[in-house]
Amino acid sequence: MVHQKRFSPACERNKDVILEKLKLYTQAPGNLLEIGSGSGQHAAFFSSHLPHINWYPSDQPMYLESIQAYQQDTPNKNFKSPITFKVGHDNFPIIDFSYVFTANTFHIMSQQEVINSLSLLGLHLKSQSYVFVYGPFKKNKEFTSVSNKEFHRSLQVNNPNSGIKDFELIHKHMLEHSFNLVKDHDMPANNQFLVYLKH
Ligand SMILES: C[S@@+](CC[C@H](N)C(=O)[O-])C[C@H]1O[C@@H](n2cnc3c(N)ncnc32)[C@H](O)[C@@H]1O
Repeated sequence: MVHQKRFSPACERNKDVILEKLKLYTQAPGNLLEIGSGSGQHAAFFSSHLPHINWYPSDQPMYLESIQAYQQDTPNKNFKSPITFKVGHDNFPIIDFSYVFTANTFHIMSQQEVINSLSLLGLHLKSQSYVFVYGPFKKNKEFTSVSNKEFHRSLQVNNPNSGIKDFELIHKHMLEHSFNLVKDHDMPANNQFLVYLKH
């Protein structure tokens, strides 16, 4: 069966700089859950550059066909079949994950979905697991750029529950769920790459 690939220009722009950061923290082999994989481009690219990591993409059902299309075209065996996982609807996958990665999802989710995501990570990840969150955030209630402010407005026109979240909200919940912030990397185009480690 031939699956239809989606294409995200943002993924092409950010994949190299994200890979550079992922490499810093993923030396140990392990299973990684990607939440909200979208097209599947990141899964294809990162799994081919991190062969010791079993990359498990996930998303809501309408994205799985595209992810499967990328998986079919990628020879690496560590690109695992996509998992149906929408936070708030599906159970957390029963796999022993050492890593969780999510890119550009928290500004699409509602605040409650973000809080639920962090709570699930607290419940299901073991000590010494890493969580990587890439995307734009507000800091001290302020947007970090004019373009992020405009982006936030445009998101809310389409869905009033979506929008750029406060870094402090993420941080508070991660601390409550036994994660320490290892590093908050500034990334191009006013994005952050947050690295948390469970103690
Ligand atoms: C802007 S796309 C980002 C996709 C991909 N990570 C990327 O960087 O291109 C946002 C993704 O978040 C997913 N998403 C939204 N709400 C979600 C939820 N409650 N649980 C899991 N994924 C969700 C969407 O299905 C979509 O794939």
